[in-house]
Amino acid sequence: MIEVRNLKKTYDVKRRDGLFKSHREKVEAVKDISMRIEAGQIVGLLGINGAGKTTTIKMLTTLIEPTAGSYSFDGLDAIAHPTEVKKQINMIAGGERMIYWRLTAYENLWYYGQLYGIENVILKQRIEKLLKLVGLEDKANIPVETFSKGMKQRLQIARGMINDPKYIFLDEPTIGLDAVVTQELHEEIMNLAKKQEKGILLTSHYLSEVEQLCDYIYLVNNGELIVEGTKRKLTDFVFLRNQYAFSTKGMDEGIYLKLKNHIGFVDKDADVSFEGGKTLITSKVELSSKLAEFALDEKLTINELHKMEPSLEQAVIKLSKEMQKEKMA
Ligand SMILES: Nc1ncnc2c1ncn2[C@@H]1O[C@H](COP(=O)(O)OP(=O)(O)OP(=O)(O)O)[C@@H](O)[C@H]1O
Ligand SMILES: [Mg+2]
Repeated sequence: MIEVRNLKKTYDVKRRDGLFKSHREKVEAVKDISMRIEAGQIVGLLGINGAGKTTTIKMLTTLIEPTAGSYSFDGLDAIAHPTEVKKQINMIAGGERMIYWRLTAYENLWYYGQLYGIENVILKQRIEKLLKLVGLEDKANIPVETFSKGMKQRLQIARGMINDPKYIFLDEPTIGLDAVVTQELHEEIMNLAKKQEKGILLTSHYLSEVEQLCDYIYLVNNGELIVEGTKRKLTDFVFLRNQYAFSTKGMDEGIYLKLKNHIGFVDKDADVSFEGGKTLITSKVELSSKLAEFALDEKLTINELHKMEPSLEQAVIKLSKEMQKEKMA
């Protein structure tokens, strides 16, 4: 298990005040983040741009040192034992970093394997296995510069597994990939966790991806943890569990305004809108019977009354907007 306790990172940056003047300023990229990642688990780290996700991953992969806090891998303190920890972890980032274009797929993997000091015989077998796993066995001896984006990303996955890590950090792994490759990568990520018992930390701005893959989610904003839990916990947290689509025969503006008013009495914070001929409602209160009563009182025939499953996307957007508002206030 990875245990992260009160991690903090402050950057000291130089800001220009003019042509000849500058001053130094502290940027608190990560203020206080604690989390746990267990073997076999896919954990999501979410947050808007600049929230502190990449900084967190960089600290956990020992690329940068934390300003404060600690983290351990299977009980081994990472700051005191960086070399041992590095053997157990790896990172796969989206985009085309960390691979050498002039080298072939095989040569890239060989190079990284050498960096980990893997014995030649074992490395050769492992590279063959990994190339097969990511479907690049036929492309092993072709320079990477001729690869498509999807092929490069598959190679990234193979590279990220070259040291047979126990824990893998995925920073936006499917950015810019088409739906087919993305789907294949999703299956791969699932396999890594569920069949090979790897512990995975994933960041992504594709919330349906997080919804599909992650067992547990941490939402960060401004370097701090806002909420953690399952998708259900997050949607509950922002009172998104009661969402309805409601329409009646002959629904017009008059009826809509009356309904809006009616809902306002029950929950003054309810979100009510009219779209595509129906009323959409989000409320912290269970409203099914209230909506049915309203139709009865107004002698309206109900066309549609159904409770909708809230998405993670809605929860994250709502929370992030609220945080932004708070920040400005
Ligand atoms: N090397 C650095 N020097 C100074 N400030 C930095 C540095 N790296 C990141 N920051 C700042 O730290 C904050 C968090 O950045 P970080 O890259 O961790 O965000 P993120 O959550 O990964 O965002 P994104 O979704 O855009 O990738 C930002 O305000 C950023 O400007
Ligand atoms: Mg980032």
